[in-house]
Amino acid sequence: MFNLFKKKKEENHLGDKYLSLKVREVVKETEDTVSIFFEQPEPFLEYKPGQYLTVILDIQGKEVRRSYSLCTSPFTDPHPGITVKRVNNGLVSNFLNDHIRPGKTLEIMKPLGNFTCDFHSKNKKHFVMVAGGSGITPIMGILKSALINEPNSKITLIYCNRSEEQIIFHKALNQLEDIYAGRLIVIHNLSQPSSNWKGLKGRLDASKLKDTLESIHYPELDQIQYFICGPEGLMNTTVSTLESLGIDDNQIIKESFYTDIEAKEEALKSAGKLAPELSREIEVVLEGETYHFEVPAGKTILEAGLDHDVDMPYSCQSGLCTACRGRLISGKVDMIEDAGLSASEIEQGYILCCSSKPASSDVKIKIE
Ligand code: FES
Repeated sequence: MFNLFKKKKEENHLGDKYLSLKVREVVKETEDTVSIFFEQPEPFLEYKPGQYLTVILDIQGKEVRRSYSLCTSPFTDPHPGITVKRVNNGLVSNFLNDHIRPGKTLEIMKPLGNFTCDFHSKNKKHFVMVAGGSGITPIMGILKSALINEPNSKITLIYCNRSEEQIIFHKALNQLEDIYAGRLIVIHNLSQPSSNWKGLKGRLDASKLKDTLESIHYPELDQIQYFICGPEGLMNTTVSTLESLGIDDNQIIKESFYTDIEAKEEALKSAGKLAPELSREIEVVLEGETYHFEVPAGKTILEAGLDHDVDMPYSCQSGLCTACRGRLISGKVDMIEDAGLSASEIEQGYILCCSSKPASSDVKIKIE
């Protein structure tokens, strides 16, 4: 059914954003989740902990792309790896869980993403991490990087799952807690645990989260940095709880795997915040080549570019992953979802082509 490995070399994407990686090892983490580790390419894959890879597959003659967070740390793990949890009816996640074996080669886009931070041996930070389900994946890379690079920093991880069997990296987290006793605390919260479970149970609501956060204090540390990654409900609860505790926005780094872009567009439309939808001619500079094409009313810049066979980079098509990031050189766009961009990227004029529509007739975008 799948012809993933039949792609001829000349059909692969060109440019320095793309790469082929050979699978070294596949580890079953839980019933519905695998980690896929790759051989290091030459030169080694450069990435920051918390970033993601975009996997490009040809399934039933159609190109599909999905982003998966790296579960590894470039500071502690010799081989980069991603973790993939099955999604109900998910074409790619099920394919990767069922069919990927050592020795296979996957085409990828090089690592991207802003869910990361810099580390320094002199830092004295309290990292507070809240993860749900597969949201642990990027957090695992950041957590290991912080432990090895910042001997004076401490980490509290609150990790939510349905049951014991669904805890990804359970054993690895236990081992890290032993090795870094006093510096890493892992608090599991299970919504439907077995009767033997001694930890937190039920939904992690605002009051439980507040109590948990307030119970851990490290007065000797200089600053607190929050990382949040998981289902939308958990992320919203965590962000609003942190806001209610007076936590500054710039202390919170979050990564979302889901957005309802259509609902957002409707809301912006009703609020009169979008330009009238018109067909507009735009200019895109991609890898040194200049393209002119029309973006029909209702289409995004990425959709129109792909319709015109412009090989624009993309992955999630939801404004979350930044694979389609470009810089607005002139004109105006309506960007429906900008969750993947940092505030400073937005200030510098970066836009996401998958969630942007031209809002003036002089739009020029440069994709580097
Ligand atoms: S393709 Fe992911 S943000 Fe545009």
